[in-house]
Amino acid sequence: MAVSFHERSDMAAQVHLSPHPLVKHKLTLLRERSTDPTKFRQLVRELALLLTYEATADLAVAPRRVETPLAETTGYKVEEVVGLIPILRAGLGMVEGVWQLIPSAQVWHIGLFRDERTLRPVEYYNKLPVSPTVDLCLVLDPMLATGGSAIATVDILKRWGARRIKFMGLIAAPEGLARFTQAHPDVAVHLAAIDEGLNERGFILPGLGDAGDRQFGTA
Ligand code: PRP
Repeated sequence: MAVSFHERSDMAAQVHLSPHPLVKHKLTLLRERSTDPTKFRQLVRELALLLTYEATADLAVAPRRVETPLAETTGYKVEEVVGLIPILRAGLGMVEGVWQLIPSAQVWHIGLFRDERTLRPVEYYNKLPVSPTVDLCLVLDPMLATGGSAIATVDILKRWGARRIKFMGLIAAPEGLARFTQAHPDVAVHLAAIDEGLNERGFILPGLGDAGDRQFGTA
């Protein structure tokens, strides 16, 4: 039986649901069947930007001197190198939104698709360099359904040697979220919403359809 998100206090500490009204508003527009790919891409970008603000609240900073037009004072510099790991295809659309806040972020793509029959993730692209080049990995994927793709991506990153990893998505199914938090209890999850569940084909309900197809006009 699926574990309810609300029944597991350990999961509640790991999972961050955005309380922001703009996130709720934009996610509703994203769900709407009549939203076309142009608008859909814009909303994914904007939601990614808003979630980035929340997901990076604990970035390490170091003091640095700064000269204003009037005086010298101490300011801050973000110390951590951030890496974005968009899961192809749908995660790609979130990159621009994060880049608007963190233009220096490195991007390392992971290609996975979900086998329609088994619902298991199949890896088809991975060009990570030999060892980690970033301090914080932000895994990007609008959808966490069974959780298989997100779990597999974090497995890849941990094998790579990544030490600090967060997952940033738009919507998740409770069953997939429970699987993910069990598999990777050390990885914080930032979301716009937790939906009702999965249908018999593994699609999130009420969901927003297929985020890859809707972004790229391939529905
Ligand atoms: C979708 C989605 C996630 C995955 C979620 O991608 O973008 O990557 O499914 O499902 P899971 O949690 O059950 O693994 P899809 O496989 O449709 O590939 P696409 O992004 O290329 O369309």
